[in-house]
Amino acid sequence: MDILKIITIVILLIFVNIVNSQYSANWTELNKRPNPAWYDEVKFGIFIHFGIYSVPAFNNGSYAEWYWWNLETGNFAPMFNLRDFDANDWAQTIEKSGAKYVVLTSKHHEGYTLWQSNQSWNWNSVDNGPGIDIVGELTKAVKNLGMHMGLYHSLYEWYNPLYNSDKDSGNPPKKDVYVQQVLMPMLMDLVNTYEPHIIWADGEWEQTSSYWKSTEFLSWLYSDSPVKDQVVVNDRWGSECRGVDGGFFTGNDHWQPGHLVSHKWENCETFDNSYGYNQFQPAKAYSNSTELIREFVETVACGGNFLLDIGPDSEGVIPINEQNNLLDMGFWLQINGEAIYGSSPWRVQNQTESIWFTTNTTNGNVYAFVYEYPETGQIVLKDPQCKSSSVVTLLGFKSSAKITTQLPKNDQPGITLNLPFAAPQDYPPFVYVFKFTGCE
Ligand SMILES: *[C@@H]1O[C@H](CO)[C@@H](O)[C@H](O)[C@H]1NC(C)=O
Ligand SMILES: *[C@@H]1O[C@H](CO)[C@@H](O)[C@H](O)[C@H]1NC(C)=O
Ligand SMILES: *[C@@H]1O[C@H](CO)[C@@H](O)[C@H](O)[C@H]1NC(C)=O
Ligand SMILES: *[C@@H]1O[C@H](CO)[C@@H](O)[C@H](O)[C@H]1NC(C)=O
Ligand SMILES: *[C@@H]1O[C@H](CO)[C@@H](O)[C@H](O)[C@H]1NC(C)=O
Ligand SMILES: *[C@@H]1O[C@H](CO)[C@@H](O)[C@H](O)[C@H]1NC(C)=O
Repeated sequence: MDILKIITIVILLIFVNIVNSQYSANWTELNKRPNPAWYDEVKFGIFIHFGIYSVPAFNNGSYAEWYWWNLETGNFAPMFNLRDFDANDWAQTIEKSGAKYVVLTSKHHEGYTLWQSNQSWNWNSVDNGPGIDIVGELTKAVKNLGMHMGLYHSLYEWYNPLYNSDKDSGNPPKKDVYVQQVLMPMLMDLVNTYEPHIIWADGEWEQTSSYWKSTEFLSWLYSDSPVKDQVVVNDRWGSECRGVDGGFFTGNDHWQPGHLVSHKWENCETFDNSYGYNQFQPAKAYSNSTELIREFVETVACGGNFLLDIGPDSEGVIPINEQNNLLDMGFWLQINGEAIYGSSPWRVQNQTESIWFTTNTTNGNVYAFVYEYPETGQIVLKDPQCKSSSVVTLLGFKSSAKITTQLPKNDQPGITLNLPFAAPQDYPPFVYVFKFTGCE
């Protein structure tokens, strides 16, 4: 064999090894895996809390999906009828919001699965209740529209006798029958059958990741599963894992750090204060579209993704007020998407609590998100550093009137924007986005 052949074979072996990455069941190794790029680019996803807790649709002052935790009674599966459920309709509504991914609760803490799981015999949406493979139908509809489909999964179950028997065996548990016979087969079934691009674990806090066998599962998921190249996971894989291990960090629910977080993170936010549908929630408990868009902007400016939660009712209808907000977000994103999708945090995240920034690192454009229209018509920015040749536009501004600018003397950073008088309807809605080309 000549030397060229040997070199070629060595290079091929290295290449195959890189392409065919193997991640051992060890957090140090697993944490080295970069998130697939799509996740950071898309910025906006929709969380769906849907299950038999959508029937009572109530929890006194708390999360509706925690209904049984307080009451420990009632089989609502027969009333979980999904009379008006149409997966394509949900997917279209979500697509119109500008979201690029979906995360559905495949199983919440009460253990009822939204697919026909062999490990949840007669306690799933196909055999008991609507007779629908909700995970399957929604996965198909979401993927058909080119969005990424993800699945939330509760590691623990409040009333699973195997889990409770494991817990009774000691602290930490001396056996893991529940994990071997229920959790692992369920997770592998979900991945093999539906090929989700996100696994969003939860209900991890009672045990460490070693009880849940999380590193073993992720090792398989990252190395050998059918979604090894696309899949992204969160950090809720054991009581010691949040903010330390896994893919993106989630902090606590509604996490909004307000400053740049160097590790990729996600804000899972609600319209009101419940993830599951709460039929008694008064209108005033809901955020309006302006508030939601502002929170979205702050999340993206600080390096996060925004996972906004909807809670459909037991008939399968997304509450109309939530649909309205989703349409508003989509309308705003149609105008301002270039400042959001694929953007990166800038060197400055915000100038005040109502002026935020992002940048496009490919062409260097800077975007300033401004919440208030100033009464003086003048916005004074301390950043960016512009030149006389720099161009400033207001995205979605329909008037032909021009924005004029003034630069500070002596090459100081900052720029003053003088907004022209124009008809109110010529101004874009919700949050104003100024685009700076040729500034730093
Ligand atoms: C995990 O991997 C790291 C780095 O490769 C290694 O130093 C460590 O000993 C491993 N830990 C276990 C428990 O195997
Ligand atoms: C809700 O909780 C409040 C305060 O704990 C209690 O006074 C009230 O009776 C509860 N309402 C229902 C319907 O359970
Ligand atoms: C579920 O059980 C049936 C019947 O035993 C079997 O045919 C099927 O392969 C099982 N499915 C999975 C995903 O394990
Ligand atoms: C929406 O919320 C913002 C911020 O709290 C508030 O200033 C504004 O008045 C609200 N808009 C409507 C239409 O209620
Ligand atoms: C950023 O700028 C490049 C170059 O102009 C452009 O092709 C791209 O669409 C912009 N947006 C993103 C998300 O990269
Ligand atoms: C940026 O926003 C955060 C969160 O709202 C706030 O605490 C901080 O003071 C703001 N920074 C500046 C420079 O105003």
